[in-house]
Amino acid sequence: MARRPVVAANWKMHKTHLEAIQTVQKLSYLLSKEDTDRIEVVVCPPFTALRAVQTIIEADRLPFALGAQDVHWEDRGAFTGEVSPPMLAALRVTHVIVGHSERRQHFGETDATVARKLRAVFGHDMTPILCVGETDDEREAGRATDVVTSQVREDASKVGPDQAARLVIAYEPVWAIGTGKACSPEDAGEAVRAIRDVLESMYSTDVAESVRVQYGGSVTAGNIREFMAVPEIDGALVGGASLDPEEFALIVKH
Ligand code: PGA
Repeated sequence: MARRPVVAANWKMHKTHLEAIQTVQKLSYLLSKEDTDRIEVVVCPPFTALRAVQTIIEADRLPFALGAQDVHWEDRGAFTGEVSPPMLAALRVTHVIVGHSERRQHFGETDATVARKLRAVFGHDMTPILCVGETDDEREAGRATDVVTSQVREDASKVGPDQAARLVIAYEPVWAIGTGKACSPEDAGEAVRAIRDVLESMYSTDVAESVRVQYGGSVTAGNIREFMAVPEIDGALVGGASLDPEEFALIVKH
């Protein structure tokens, strides 16, 4: 089954709404229709830039999907500082990063909260980009596969097969994020195969073959081809290298 690769820009806590507009405009000059037909391109600005980026995508009919970097699981309520799924859906956000390791590490996110967020995103017809990955210590201890597969099991528990088939998973080893020390394509391929095996055991071969699995962690224009050459890998989640539209365009074009 042919899976359309998906390359997502995770800008993290970078760019004001004005800088975000400029970046998206530049990106639109650098990418052709052939590029975005071949690869789904998702831009994930900070919350404060979502409305501005939505407006420019719609006004100029840019072939980019709009993604958010996080979400709360409730539709509304007394949760100061949080943003809900319907608020994102109203901005025509189509993708939401869920369970990024920075949220797990610095903001106490657990598999239980990630699971709630995943269901909430699906509940509003958006596509979660579920991030999983092991730490340095876990890899050293030979536990990388166990950690990643148990994250998928717990985070996607209670997600039905129809929804699961639409999932995007980003395999992002924590030690590779923002360090310039990318995972080897062989190790990334092995982790992605393990992710598909667990999806097969939770759902079916069809679901396991439908889910798109990205690699993330120090992806650059210089190493993207090695990852895309691995048949199991269906794109990338890009942090630092996505901030520069020229480099990000090269990653999409690889
Ligand atoms: P990086 O970040 O590309 O800067 O390593 C990836 C991510 O956190 O999604």
